[in-house]
Order: sequence, then C-alpha cells, then structure tokens
Amino acid sequence: MEYHAPKGTVDMLSDTAYAWEHLQRVAAEIFAAYGYQPIYTPIFEHTEVFERGIGEATDVVGKEMYTFADKGGRSITLRPEGTASVVRSALEHSLTANGQSAKLYYAGPMFRYERPQKGRMRQFWQIGAEALGMQDPSIDAEVIVMLMAFFEAVGIPRQNMRLLLNSMGEDSCRPKYREKVAGYLRTHADALCGGCVRRADTNPLRAFDCKTPSCKEVMAAAPLLRDELCDECATHYRAVKGHLDGQGILYEEDATLVRGLDYYTRTVFEVQADAGLGSQNAIGGGGRYDGLMEVFGGQPTPGLGFALGFERTLLAMAAAGVEVPGTPAVRVYVARVDASTDPEAFRLVSDLRRARIPAEMDHKGRSLKAQFRQADRLGANLVVVVGPDESAAGEATVRDMSAKTEERVALPRLVAAIAERLRQG
Ligand code: HAM
Repeated sequence: MEYHAPKGTVDMLSDTAYAWEHLQRVAAEIFAAYGYQPIYTPIFEHTEVFERGIGEATDVVGKEMYTFADKGGRSITLRPEGTASVVRSALEHSLTANGQSAKLYYAGPMFRYERPQKGRMRQFWQIGAEALGMQDPSIDAEVIVMLMAFFEAVGIPRQNMRLLLNSMGEDSCRPKYREKVAGYLRTHADALCGGCVRRADTNPLRAFDCKTPSCKEVMAAAPLLRDELCDECATHYRAVKGHLDGQGILYEEDATLVRGLDYYTRTVFEVQADAGLGSQNAIGGGGRYDGLMEVFGGQPTPGLGFALGFERTLLAMAAAGVEVPGTPAVRVYVARVDASTDPEAFRLVSDLRRARIPAEMDHKGRSLKAQFRQADRLGANLVVVVGPDESAAGEATVRDMSAKTEERVALPRLVAAIAERLRQG
C-alpha cells in the first residue's frame, strides 16, 4: 500500500508551516493591541456542542461533521469551527459571569467533510476572535476593524478585498421574515432545486446561498430582511455602519449575505478576495450571536466574532506577491577536521547557537572538502575551522565565503567576533 495524507488534508511542509507561524504572530500582535487574549479549547467536543450551537439544519452539522463514538460510547465531533467551543468554554469557566466581558482569540485546525477544491479543505486552519458580553454597536465595528487590520498587515492590498455587511435581525423580526421567505420559496417551488424546496421547511434563508442558476434567479427577487428589521435591529445596524464610516472602512451592504451557521443575529460580515482564489473566495467572516450562550444554558450574553481561513489568506497573499519570512538561513558552518578537535567543533557550534546565531555542522562524516561544499549549499556566510594547528594555538580559522578571505581568531573571542562580522554583513 502507498501511504498518503487523507483526501482534503495536506502536510504543511516548512514553507507553509512558517507562513502559519507568521500569521499567528501577526494576529497575536494586532489582537493584543485590541485587548484580546489567547484561548485553546479542545480539538474535539461532545457532538451536542456543535449540533446545538451551530444548528442541526446547517450543512456543517447535517453533512460535514467528523463524528464518532469514543471508546466509552460517547458521541464526539472534531470541531468544524471555533465559536461554539469558545462560548461553551466561557460558560463553563464563568468568563462572562456578573456582567464581565471577555475578548478571546484562537488559532488551529478545523474539520469539515466537504468536497475538496482550491481553498476548500477537510482539515483547514483558522485564526478566530470572539468578543463576549458586549452589546454596543462599537464592538461590532471593532471586530471588523481588527479583521481588516490583520489582512492589511499580512500584505493583502485593501483594493483586493471586499467587505460585505448585513444584518440578520433577531428573535423579534427574523422568525416573521423566515416565514415570509419560506412562503416565497413554496410559491416558486417549480423553479427551485430539490434542496431549496426542502429548505422552505428546514432553513429557508440558506436558499440565498444556493448556486443553482434558477434558484439564484428566484432569490434575486425574494423579500429582504433589510426591509423587515425591527426598530432595535435597524438602529443597531445603522450605528455599526456609522462607526465603520467613521473609521474610513469601506464596505458593501449585501442584503442576501446569510452565512452558513445558524447562531447569527444582527451584524454579519464576510471578507472576499478574488485575486488568487476561485469560487471559495471568502477569506474570513463572522458576526454577532447574541443567543448562543443561552443555547448552552447560560444567561443571555451578547457575543460576536470572526474567523479567517489560513489557506485562503495565503492564496490571497501569494496573488499580491507577498513573501512570507521563511527558514532562517544558516549563517555559520563549523567544519570538523579530525577526531582530536571534534569536541572543540561541537562546543563551538553549540556556543554559536546559544548566541542565537544559526549554525550548522556535519553529522555524516563528510570530508573537509565536502563540508565546504555543504556550507556553500546551505548559504553559510562564514566557515569556522578548528584543526590541530589552530587548537594548539587556542584559535580558529574563520573563512568568509563570499570575500574568500580567512583570518585567525582567538577561541574565547570567537562568538563575539562572528556576531560582529555578521552584523556588519
Ligand atoms: P466560516 O465562515 O464557516 O465561519 O469560516 C470562516 C473562514 O474559514 C472562511 O471565511 C474561510 O476562509 C475558512 N474556511 C471555512 N471552511 C473552510 C474549508 N473547508 N477549507 C478552507 N477554509 C475554510 C466560522 O467558522 C465562524 N466560527 C466564524 C465566526 C466566529 N463567527 C463568529 N465568530
């Protein structure tokens, strides 16, 4: 049998792994400025967390979850997203008890059994943030501003991105609207795909997301929630837009943006990028979920957040020609000459590394000539040689690989001298 990674997964080799680490560092730095703290929840949860949190009628819960019984017979699911877990955790640890609020962020793999394509994986990586316990429209704007700041900081030009915005309403206006859309779907059932006919009963608003051309046509004339929002939701939405305008954040209102998870109330948003991506062009998205804490049995607690997809962000970065910092190059190669000076060579390479100077030595018994070739291949700026002669004099020979010059340096001064030379370039 040939072994390969399961369909829809990839091995993140060094370049991609460096990019992932880079994005996490940028996120940590930016999110800290907005007061967000890290949280790591388990990669699997009891299945009910997602079933109840995300909603049984969603594609994610209905079709895409990796669910299995553990050895104790308990139903377990690999997390398809981070929000339900974070809210479950916040409730479990009383992070929002007594009117407290919490700003949290996370990064890690998520799992959805989807049909793999460009920018769509079965194991994919997200960076997300959640703001719990705050209802003011200013926090909606803050979360959006932070997400856009992240994308710009990693080098995606603003003109390559589209920020879509909508309000999903809440209990006071959405149920009425859902019924209206359900009725509309039923009257147009002839022109709809089987999925959308069923959605009339299960999840009518998802029909806005259907890609079937005839459904798209029908939905283009469907009633819009924008026109049915209750006064509170309309006021909230106006205030969010006002804050974004005040920050000079450009957005497009998209009254058909409904998103794929059922917990959303009021503000929803999505960032799309076309350059470098195919049909899976949402690089990030999120929204408010003021009812989610109650779903888990907690007190009514407002919340909202976003998640961005690592793979898609990387594609958008590549399309913009962004170079991600990669492997730190080897700066110094310490050559081994013979057994008598081996301990010295090993000590030297360790001293350099302790000084955080990337250094390498041979572990394959190469000849001196082959070691120089290897140093060249690795791009080392300097090669250090301690042979019996040098050792007897308490010195090492330092060869500059591009200038092709050599000098002898006293061993006790060697690390400092090398650091100085590398600083000078
Ligand atoms: P989502 O829109 O399902 O939202 O996912 C967020 C982002 O994850 C997407 O915009 C996309 O970039 C990426 N993504 C999703 N599925 C895949 C996939 N199969 N392959 C590659 N990338 C993917 C959420 O997950 C919500 N938890 C966001 C949120 C946080 N809402 C409130 N707080």
